[in-house]
Amino acid sequence: MTSVSPPAPTSPIPDGPIPASPAVAPGRSQARERHFRTARLVSGLVLMLFVAMHLANVALNLVSIDTADAGLEWLTEPWRILPAKILLYGAATVHIVLVLRTLYLRRTLKMPGKEAAQVLLGLLIPLLIAEHVIGVHVYRAITGLDVDYEFVARALWIDSPATGVKQVFALLVIWAHGCLGLHFWLRYRDWYPTAAPFLLIGAVLVPVLGLLGFAEAGKVVLAQPTPPTPDAIMAERLATVYLTKTAFLNLAYAVAIGAVAATLALRGLRQAIARRNLIEVRYESGQVVRVPRGSSVLEASRIGGIPHYAVCGGRGRCSTCRVRVTAGSEALPPPAPLERATLSRIHADPSVRLACQLRPTAPLTVLPLLVADRERLLPAGAGRARPGREQDIAVLFCDIRGFTALADHRLPYDIVFLLNRYFAIVGTAVEKSGGRLDKFIGDGAMALFGLDTSTAEACRQALAASAAILAELDRLSEELAAELPAPLKVAIGIHAGPTIVGAMGYGDTMHVTAIGDTVNVASRLESAAKEFNAAIVVSDTVVALSGLDLSDYEAREIAIRGSARPLHVRVVPQDAALGSGFAEAATQSAA
Ligand code: FES
Repeated sequence: MTSVSPPAPTSPIPDGPIPASPAVAPGRSQARERHFRTARLVSGLVLMLFVAMHLANVALNLVSIDTADAGLEWLTEPWRILPAKILLYGAATVHIVLVLRTLYLRRTLKMPGKEAAQVLLGLLIPLLIAEHVIGVHVYRAITGLDVDYEFVARALWIDSPATGVKQVFALLVIWAHGCLGLHFWLRYRDWYPTAAPFLLIGAVLVPVLGLLGFAEAGKVVLAQPTPPTPDAIMAERLATVYLTKTAFLNLAYAVAIGAVAATLALRGLRQAIARRNLIEVRYESGQVVRVPRGSSVLEASRIGGIPHYAVCGGRGRCSTCRVRVTAGSEALPPPAPLERATLSRIHADPSVRLACQLRPTAPLTVLPLLVADRERLLPAGAGRARPGREQDIAVLFCDIRGFTALADHRLPYDIVFLLNRYFAIVGTAVEKSGGRLDKFIGDGAMALFGLDTSTAEACRQALAASAAILAELDRLSEELAAELPAPLKVAIGIHAGPTIVGAMGYGDTMHVTAIGDTVNVASRLESAAKEFNAAIVVSDTVVALSGLDLSDYEAREIAIRGSARPLHVRVVPQDAALGSGFAEAATQSAA
């Protein structure tokens, strides 16, 4: 029997399905799983396309029932030609079978809420749509008549409102299931965070318009006079339709419920057999989880309730589930190509394995390398960055010049006042330009741009912020001219490129920040600005990405530690009038 000792703490279980885990050679198994995932994805996309076209057709009722009927030709009829029918019914069959297969192969039914919702909604769909699908087909076959929107609206609004309610529910369930599937598929694409708001608008609009169209059709048929009672022949056919539909419906319900029950029963049987052959996974923390042979270490963690990051949902891509094998490594199967590729990307040493891909065949001891128990401390809005993701952004460093000399012979109260005015200038300029103030370090500041926008936009925002800082600082210098020995000056460095963005810190100090070479280079450019006695040093990367013309400014090369090649930069001198490139950046980031 699967057992856990000692009782493990409750853990945040990351999103995403764990792939099935048949106990066969990992390489072949992974390739096969990839094929199955592709088949499930493609079949799901076909079904989503059908549903979207169907909803678009229903939405045309907002114009008129005749328009919706005319729309049948473009939005519904194409699905009635034989190849499309085969594609549609084939996709439905493949999708259902693969969902059941996933259920059968799951080591545990514990899963995150979103994923559980997707599975449950998926299992409900056949039960919910069976009546509509069977009813339409049986009616057409027995009466020889076609089904138009007036007929459907009358059937669902007048003859059987309960079926109408069920159809609306079915529609919402199908759409939600499909959207969740798309979300799981796309969520790690770089462009997804930017596109997500627009996709969400589409995901809401399509069913809302469909439902409004359905309501409009109902309003029209409810206002129409009752149609004449069918003649005897038609009445007899309708009775046959009813009986046939009921018989097929009962059969469909039995098959659907039976398939799920059989899947769960087979799964139970398989697990009972597998339990005779348990593998012991020990954790360095002292916890022990016994799991059926063929389970992955990540599945062991989930079964044991042991916190374990798995950002890509067990797909072997993110490496966040990695563990160090501290005992039992000699009996482990070697990494398959996918695991090997991910491990080599992070230059992992041979004792490190991906928990989601490692299916031990003998007892072993592991140490998860990324511990998830601080996840609950992440600040609001840090979700996208959990627990750190690569992201191209622009980074701005800004430091006040000659601060030590400025602070000499002044009371601390004065210094605090001055610094706060300066911090307010920097903070306002950064936020107004669309960036995020990351931190103040002494009299310096670091700001991030592009956490929610494209890198090109981020570069323009950073340039706009730098121009605003210089302008506002000049104003402050004028205002305090009598108090200051000389006008205030700053040195600004701006660079853009890949960083790791994530929530870092401890307790209340935890916030989303960025680390990596790009941050170091931006800081280096700020130092270079001081060395050149310049106001701004901006890398050519930023200039190129921003699409702005900064050719008025001196081009230089800067040596960067750890890089064989110098970095090309533009140098904006102190007191120089900022050229049209900066003005354009300000205009664009304000737009
Ligand atoms: S969960 Fe992403 S590589 Fe294992």
